[in-house]
Amino acid sequence: MRTVKIGLLGVGVVGSAVAKAIIDDRGTTERSGVKLELARAAVRDLSKQRAVDLSPELLTADPHDVVSNPDVDVVVELMGGENPAFELITAALSSGKHVVSANKEVLAKRGDELLATATQSGAQLIYEASVGGGIPILNTISNELLANRIESIRAIINGTTNYILTRMSGEGAAYSDVLADAQRLGYAEADPTADVDGFDALYKIAILGQLAFGTSAPVDGIHREGIGRIDARDFRYAEELGFTIKLIAAAQRTEAGLLLRVHPSLVPLDVPMASVNGALNMVEVEGDLVGPLWLQGAGAGPEPTASAVLGDVLNVARTASNGASQSSIDPLPLAPMVGHHCQYYLRLTAADQPGVLAQVATVLGDADISIRSVIQMDTDETAGQADLVIMTHSALEANMQEAVSRLRSLDVVVELDNLIRVESY
Ligand code: NAP
Ligand code: HSE
Repeated sequence: MRTVKIGLLGVGVVGSAVAKAIIDDRGTTERSGVKLELARAAVRDLSKQRAVDLSPELLTADPHDVVSNPDVDVVVELMGGENPAFELITAALSSGKHVVSANKEVLAKRGDELLATATQSGAQLIYEASVGGGIPILNTISNELLANRIESIRAIINGTTNYILTRMSGEGAAYSDVLADAQRLGYAEADPTADVDGFDALYKIAILGQLAFGTSAPVDGIHREGIGRIDARDFRYAEELGFTIKLIAAAQRTEAGLLLRVHPSLVPLDVPMASVNGALNMVEVEGDLVGPLWLQGAGAGPEPTASAVLGDVLNVARTASNGASQSSIDPLPLAPMVGHHCQYYLRLTAADQPGVLAQVATVLGDADISIRSVIQMDTDETAGQADLVIMTHSALEANMQEAVSRLRSLDVVVELDNLIRVESY
């Protein structure tokens, strides 16, 4: 039986669940042959009430007390954010301590530097919980799927936005009420704009892209859109057309290289992703040998995330070699979003008068975009306006962007309310 002493950086939503699972044990020691002990825990505010009872001697307001503490074997970083997490993880790794982290932001932005420090010092840096909450996706890619050439990853990978979209779609719930519920349930980031504006999903797809395709993408070079423009009408219209709306993050091998993208998408109602609801996540991975795989589970929340964090801690304690590691495959170059091809859903508020459709169709036709269907939805007779919903055949993103700017300049188009890409299956 080995005893491993844990130093926690952060005792918030996830840190409290990790501390509680260590204290309660629930047979983990017997199953794993490793006894976990909490040695030190850093927080910002020592007087704050916490979801776990910790003796005051364990707590410190100085995180360096954790990373440079000789009693600590493994540092578990659950603070979030780029700084001071980057500096603290670097200090821990440099002194030979293994680090387990759930912090996708620091890993997406500075993962290369951190992994280089780990390689230099011989310490392990592993971070299963940073992507997909409780779903063991990083280990699956870096170990179980190692014999495969990964072709594509497509995922619902942010629990907060999936929870919000699910409730907007099912109950027509108001965006702000639902976000408050997601925060209360412990799904949202400390600053929830990271969720709703798509940054969290972007960090996660950057980590997956690095692991599966060897490509380290600068996070500001990845196409990102949040869910802010989606409203109840889009769900209604999408459903009439046979789709629902999900925030999709994708990393796909294309002829031009690796295309990374995060944006709301229309997803056909009859594919597995369409029924992934609430804070659940789903990652669809396609390998050349295994074909498509779908991994689904709790993508956010204290206990599922603690499951992934403690799995990493036990792996490090038992072997100091398992877990996600830096990819050594030849990196694919990054492909630009303007080369993406897909069908599009366009929602316009347009003047309800003769000739409008012809003008809109001409702009699309001139940009080499073929229309699949046009439906006139809600009509506001007083204002003399109507919602036009256009579905296109597959078109080039660059052409669609050009058409969008020309549509916006038409007098008969009052507002181009939404442009949503359609996932193909
Ligand atoms: P959280 O509730 O905001 O907790 C952050 C903790 O870190 C708090 O205990 C805070 O102290 C402490 N902290 C922050 N800055 C500090 C500093 N400079 N010095 C000392 N302590 C500091 O966040 P969380 O939801 O647990 O998330 C933690 C990490 O896990 C983030 O990287 C997040 O992205 C990731 N993650 C979260 C989930 C989830 O479902 N929530 C799932 C997967 C991954 P105080 O308590 O005193 O403020
Ligand atoms: N805020 C994140 C989410 C937590 O909603 O998915 C899990 O990484």
